[in-house]
Amino acid sequence: MKKLLVTGASGFLGWNICTYARKEYDIFGTVFLHPVKMNGVKTIRIDLTKYNDLKKVFREVEPDGVIHTAAASRPEFCQSHPSESNKINVEASVNLAGFCSDRGIPFAFTSTDLVFDGKHAPYREGDPVNPVNVYGEQKSRAEAQVMDTYAHAAVCRMPMMFGLSSPAYQTFFQQTVSALQRGRELTLFTDEFRTPVSGYTAVKGLILALKKVRGILHLGGRERISRYDFGKLIADISGYTVNHVHACRQKDVKLRVPRAADLTLDSSKAFAMGFDPPTLKEELQSLLHNHHELY
Ligand SMILES: NC(=O)c1ccc[n+]([C@@H]2O[C@H](COP(=O)([O-])OP(=O)(O)OC[C@H]3O[C@@H](n4cnc5c(N)ncnc54)[C@H](OP(=O)(O)O)[C@@H]3O)[C@@H](O)[C@H]2O)c1
Repeated sequence: MKKLLVTGASGFLGWNICTYARKEYDIFGTVFLHPVKMNGVKTIRIDLTKYNDLKKVFREVEPDGVIHTAAASRPEFCQSHPSESNKINVEASVNLAGFCSDRGIPFAFTSTDLVFDGKHAPYREGDPVNPVNVYGEQKSRAEAQVMDTYAHAAVCRMPMMFGLSSPAYQTFFQQTVSALQRGRELTLFTDEFRTPVSGYTAVKGLILALKKVRGILHLGGRERISRYDFGKLIADISGYTVNHVHACRQKDVKLRVPRAADLTLDSSKAFAMGFDPPTLKEELQSLLHNHHELY
């Protein structure tokens, strides 16, 4: 089996990659502050911002490919800690690209739809970036520097994702289900649009990108949906009352960190290559009834 190094194995996406790709790859997953354990995955505890430690991991593991998901992924944190977050979001990503370039192995870097400003959706791979917050700026800089460092890298722009999560992190999906379970009222934006995919579907896209893609690839879903409608869909499919989901508008709320309104990704390039996200209804039904077939 080929050796796949997955950074951020304790995070939402890294954990999904480890869960779904471990039948196809011998997986080495990096963790940092949350040393989670997974059957069939060799975990390595490392601060990826330490260049020499990273070099040592490459020397010891000798990976055949790398998917880099580790990040300071919360926009609020990046906004208040720009220098600290830059180290993991930009510097570590570029160093990883360099080590992959040295070995000539496939490298998939996970970027975000937040490199765009949300005013000119839908977005294709070649559209100009214009991030509205520090997190988006860092990812946008990382994309450019990763490509400069390693032209064979796959830069995957991920949409909002949902699904099973590592014990250490929660997504919008878990927060919504848990709020509904406790009978709490939810107020969600009607004017913030995304093209979500499940973690399971995202993993399929990332493996495809790792094998076949050089350059930028959008891995969004087929459906554009507002957070409000997504919340209602989750409530409906999980059997909770939709009456607890209320509407509000992003543009009426004073935000601490700027958010982009419409980040609809046009992912037709990935679809043409075989990336085939199910409908959101199918994804949620499968998730809530735990019918995933693992690779
Ligand atoms: N989730 C989404 O909806 C979404 C949407 C668009 C793009 N993305 C992108 O997709 C990727 C994965 O996101 P995610 O939601 O899975 O992130 P996440 O759940 O917040 O996980 C972040 C991961 O990064 C690791 N990490 C952070 N700083 C580190 C450091 N200095 N050294 C080593 N590891 C470090 C964390 O390890 P510890 O916890 O062990 O410290 C954790 O495993 C990111 O690149 C993110 O920007 C995510």
